[in-house]
Amino acid sequence: GNKNIQAKLVLLGDMGAGKTSLVLRFVKGQFHEYQESTIGAAFFTQVLSLNEATVKFDIWDTAGQERYHSLAPMYYRGAAAAVVVYDITSMDSFQRAKKWVLELHRQGNPKIVMFLVANKADLAGKRQVDNEEGEQYARENGLSFLETSAKTAQNVNELFYEIAKGVAKA
Ligand code: GTP
Repeated sequence: GNKNIQAKLVLLGDMGAGKTSLVLRFVKGQFHEYQESTIGAAFFTQVLSLNEATVKFDIWDTAGQERYHSLAPMYYRGAAAAVVVYDITSMDSFQRAKKWVLELHRQGNPKIVMFLVANKADLAGKRQVDNEEGEQYARENGLSFLETSAKTAQNVNELFYEIAKGVAKA
C-alpha cells in the first residue's frame, strides 16, 4: 500500500560546508556562488514520492557558525534523518563533522537515518579529505556515505532519495 510519511530532517556541519546549498539544489534546483551564511536555522519542505511511500520532508537547515551550536538539539530532537555535511577541501570541516556524529550518537534518536556527506566534490583539485577517509569513518560509525556537489548537482537527488527510502523502511 502507499504510505504517507512526514519526516523531520536536519542538516548539521561546519559553516560553509554547503548545507543550505544542498537543500536549495534539492528543493529549488538552484545554486548560488555567494550563498549567505545561515542565521539560526532555515526551514524548507519538500515531497518525494517513492513506489512504496510518499515522504514529506520537514527540513531544518542549521547554522554552522559555532555561536549557534547550543541551538542544535532543538533541530535534531525528534528527527527521523540527519545529514552531517563536510567540505572535501577542508580537513577542519571533516573534524567538525565527526564531532556532530558523536553528538548525534550520544543525544539523538538511536533509530535516526544518518548520512555523512562529503560536499564540493567538484573542487577535486583542492581536496584535503580523501574519499576513502570519509567512507571508512562512515562505515565504522554505522552511517551511509555519499560524495556530493551542490554546484553540479552530483548525487544530490540520490541523497534525498536514499534518505526517503531509509525513512520509509524504518
Ligand atoms: P552556514 O550557513 O554558514 O552553516 O554554511 P552552509 O553549510 O549552509 O554553506 P552554504 O550552502 O552557505 O555554502 C557556503 C559556500 O560554499 C557558498 O559560497 C556556496 O556557493 C559554496 N558551495 C556550497 N556547495 C558547494 C559545492 O558543492 N561546490 C562548490 N564549488 N561550492 C559550493
